[in-house]
Amino acid sequence: IEKTVVAINGDGIGREIVEAARRVVDKAVVKDNIVICWAEHKAGGEAIDAYGKPLPQSTIDACKKAEAVLLGAVGGPKWDSVAPAIRPEKAILGLRKELGLFCNLRPVRIFKALQEYSPLKPELVQDVDFVIVRELTGGIYFGERSEASGEGPNEKAWDKETYHRYEIERIIDIAIDTAKKRKGKVTSVDKANVLASSRLWRTVAQEKATANSAVTFDYLYVDNTAMQLVVNPGQFDVIVTTNLFGDILSDEGAVVSGSLGLLPSASIGTGTALYEPIHGSAPDIAGKGIANPLGTILSAAMMCRYSLGASKAADAIEAAVEAALTAGYRTGDIYKDGMKRVNTEGMTEAVLQYI
Ligand code: NAI
Ligand code: MG
Repeated sequence: IEKTVVAINGDGIGREIVEAARRVVDKAVVKDNIVICWAEHKAGGEAIDAYGKPLPQSTIDACKKAEAVLLGAVGGPKWDSVAPAIRPEKAILGLRKELGLFCNLRPVRIFKALQEYSPLKPELVQDVDFVIVRELTGGIYFGERSEASGEGPNEKAWDKETYHRYEIERIIDIAIDTAKKRKGKVTSVDKANVLASSRLWRTVAQEKATANSAVTFDYLYVDNTAMQLVVNPGQFDVIVTTNLFGDILSDEGAVVSGSLGLLPSASIGTGTALYEPIHGSAPDIAGKGIANPLGTILSAAMMCRYSLGASKAADAIEAAVEAALTAGYRTGDIYKDGMKRVNTEGMTEAVLQYI
């Protein structure tokens, strides 16, 4: 079966890491009798250079028609002075809107071979394997706001947090589905002791919990969650939360794992899903062929599992990454003495050999 995937390299190390992931996917999907038809389209800085805007209509149209989108990263110093309305990051926001991507999934797991990279004690990170499900198109980031106005001590600015029932229901549903395929536990995170929007969030989560007895629910305040993530991260399976809280907690989760270059993400919703590593375009190492491709390769594994119906490929890619790390292959960002130092190409070959 042929499946069309849009590949958006983007900027900086984007091309290097997306090409690496494509090679791995092409080899792995054979296990599911799938052939990928890759369609390259531009977004971010590369699209500003080519078309004068970060998200051309041709890219949007191609993404809408495809089975999935694999993206490297966008942005870089070259475009720091362009007008705010056409900044490279607008491409990501635009894609989220055009594709209806209201949910961001960020798995955080710690590969055994990399446990020492976590800033937490080894005994704390052994069992770390959770997913943060972040609401992506609502809440305070999309609410009304008012820039600073007034004078002196009375100068003020405000931002408004709104959640509709339907927005909460659909994100909790995704958390439940995700938990069913994992350890069966959902932790719903809010600030219901203070915020009205959080009280609606908790009410809806509790209703969903009652209706889905196959999954256990836990309710935590966001401040406590921030603490629990470093004190006992092994307790979590699926964490579901608002746009703002999820932004902060997912960065904390990334730090717990200790290796930014390795973490994948998926944005899903009503249209085509988008897969990308959590790191940026790393302009400082772009063009050198030394970027760590594993975050993109693991994002591609999620793509195989959730969008392409290629679960054998997904399992094979994840196992191959684990095997390559266990065998000691390390790109510069995760290198330690005594390990096998490789560049992007070398790491890709290492993963390919275990597929
Ligand atoms: P960054 O994640 O690009 O880089 C932070 C540090 O981590 C750098 O030292 C970089 O070399 C290193 N790093 C990141 N990914 C790596 C990899 N795969 N292998 C080895 N080392 C890696 O974050 P930064 O520097 O804050 O942002 C750079 C640009 O990326 C900015 O223009 C920013 O707006 C953009 N960005 C784009 C994102 C996206 O496309 N979704 C997300 C985050 C940032
Ligand atoms: Mg963030």
